[in-house]
Amino acid sequence: MARILITVGPTYEPIDAVRFIGNRSSGKLGSSLADRAAELGWEVRILLGPNAVLPIEDGVDVIRFASAQDLQDALGQHLAWCDCLVMAAAVADYRPKACEVDCSGKRRRTGGDLSISLESTPDLLAGCSKNARSNQLLVGFALEPADELEASALRKLGEKNIDLIVANPLETMDADAIHARLIGNQDRGMNIDQTTDGSISKDAFAAWLLGHLDSLVAERISPAHTNTESTSHVKL
Ligand code: CTP
Repeated sequence: MARILITVGPTYEPIDAVRFIGNRSSGKLGSSLADRAAELGWEVRILLGPNAVLPIEDGVDVIRFASAQDLQDALGQHLAWCDCLVMAAAVADYRPKACEVDCSGKRRRTGGDLSISLESTPDLLAGCSKNARSNQLLVGFALEPADELEASALRKLGEKNIDLIVANPLETMDADAIHARLIGNQDRGMNIDQTTDGSISKDAFAAWLLGHLDSLVAERISPAHTNTESTSHVKL
């Protein structure tokens, strides 16, 4: 049975022992994907962020992460296991610089303004692409303003060097429904461009996306997984 690794939910980037920079990702979509994939018979492992909706199906293997760094480490450990990676997590693009972070205690109010320097996080999906086997299918998400959706999705497919991107309008983040477009990277032999039939529930979207992934993964994978592939770790 094919193996799918799904990253779900937000990252929390610590400032001190009690504060963080986060985002409003609920993890609903990633968890729906995990549940539907398990129902359809995939082997499912998810990397689940803080405060994200838990999948309910038995048999979904759940590994927790909090920050982008944790997620990077977890991907290094679990990427080789899967046939298909779906990066549904909302990874922070910036985090406080290490010199700003003190998790041994709490920053005290000193009065006046406070500035915290941020640094870019690495693009984890691009890192996965550099370390993936050629028969692994890599899927990203792009949350875009409607008028930039296609151009931006195509740019991200190239920059990250991944197979597929699910582009959806900004409003999707907190909503229960999604109007998505699945675009393939022609440079990697993926001639697919499909749009959902209007706005559909996240559950219906999960079934729709998995229907496409199922046949694409089947074309890609060789029948046998070797033990080496399922246990090897990489540093992204
Ligand atoms: N992603 C990632 N590593 C990051 C940031 C995002 O792997 N540091 C992944 C997300 O999981 C998602 C895709 O990349 O699958 C989103 O692409 P990104 O370029 O980060 O999109 P946005 O941040 O939404 O785009 P922009 O910076 O253009 O607003």
